[in-house]
Amino acid sequence: MRHNRDAFDRWRIVPRVLHGVGRRELRTEILGTAMPAPVLVAPIGAAGLVRADSDVQIARGAAASGTPYVFSSQGCHPMEDTARAMGATPFWYQLYWSSDEQLVDSMIRRAELSGAAALVVTVDTTVLGWRPQDLDLGSLPFARGEGIAQYTSDPRFLALTADRSRRPRPAGERDEITPGAVATLLAMSRRYPGRLLENLRSPMPRAAVQTFLDLYSNPWLSWDQLATVKSRTTLPVLIKGVLHPDDARRAVELGLDGVIVSNHGGRQVDNAIAALDALVAVREAVGPDVVVLFDSGIRTGADLFVALALGADACLLGRPHVYGLALAGADGVRQVIDNLVAELDLIMGLTGVVSVADIGSDQLHRAREAL
Ligand SMILES: Cc1cc2nc3c(=O)[nH]c(=O)nc-3n(C[C@H](O)[C@H](O)[C@H](O)COP(=O)(O)O)c2cc1C
Repeated sequence: MRHNRDAFDRWRIVPRVLHGVGRRELRTEILGTAMPAPVLVAPIGAAGLVRADSDVQIARGAAASGTPYVFSSQGCHPMEDTARAMGATPFWYQLYWSSDEQLVDSMIRRAELSGAAALVVTVDTTVLGWRPQDLDLGSLPFARGEGIAQYTSDPRFLALTADRSRRPRPAGERDEITPGAVATLLAMSRRYPGRLLENLRSPMPRAAVQTFLDLYSNPWLSWDQLATVKSRTTLPVLIKGVLHPDDARRAVELGLDGVIVSNHGGRQVDNAIAALDALVAVREAVGPDVVVLFDSGIRTGADLFVALALGADACLLGRPHVYGLALAGADGVRQVIDNLVAELDLIMGLTGVVSVADIGSDQLHRAREAL
């Protein structure tokens, strides 16, 4: 996460004067999705930790500014509900490729039926990274039923959960009743669809968490398996979490529609290369025509400008929109987006750029201390 910020700090923007640019064009289209600026809202799982109604509030905030939102596989609301909150504003669906292939197909089908305009397969989290702060706190929101709403609303997942709930407990397995265990059971039951009292009596909430933990990650995921995705959906497909130019090339060879350069906000591999440092090589590798999106470290409109100048077609806004959500719900999300886009617009004016396509490395200077 720190490297992401350091990478931005090594670039300076070079203002240009007297270009007579009274009006700038920020509208962008990516794979058929129109957006008022080259910005999308990134998928962030378990945002319910921050505020109730999280994904729905994010959707409302994004829609208020017409900004596409990439729904997370680890969302706190079923995609169908979040889709409704988007109104006419387009959205994409981010998929974590489960180890159950039928669940993968079911999620893709639901995304298509809900109206998603693209599928983003996140490939950098086939196992969770080593996260000392979470480990110190013993924090895994999914284990308390937070961030598994896409699963508990899925027919295939519910069938697997029901199977599991009917299976006899392994011999010798006993529950120890501790305050922590009671709190966890309560949390699972509260978040499981339906009424709390019935959920407390039902084996399903707990079986759902166990089923989820069994199949949500897929460390065996490979290029060969990913190659099947284009025949399983009519949507454009991007992969998220690319940092090496060879991986970007491979994605293009497979016929995928785009790559998202991202180090997951520094949450996966400690000391990983900054996403911004990877961006230039990825753009060079795939050429000018392939869709390359970017996230990890964007905090201001100036950051958006730098990432676009280094080859991104558009950027995803991660943590900042969640800060907006925490402070002011949907309106906070909208304000964060609007503020970043307003700054980008002004910087374009002050660097003599009329359209997003004109933003290029000519407007950048590599800081001397970084050489
Ligand atoms: C709390 C948290 C949860 C996230 N959950 C997901 C997720 O469910 N799916 C996904 O593809 N990326 C997820 N990401 C990564 C973001 O989509 C994005 O890549 C990252 O936030 C960018 O870094 P930044 O927020 O520091 O700019 C998550 C990031 C955070 C901080």
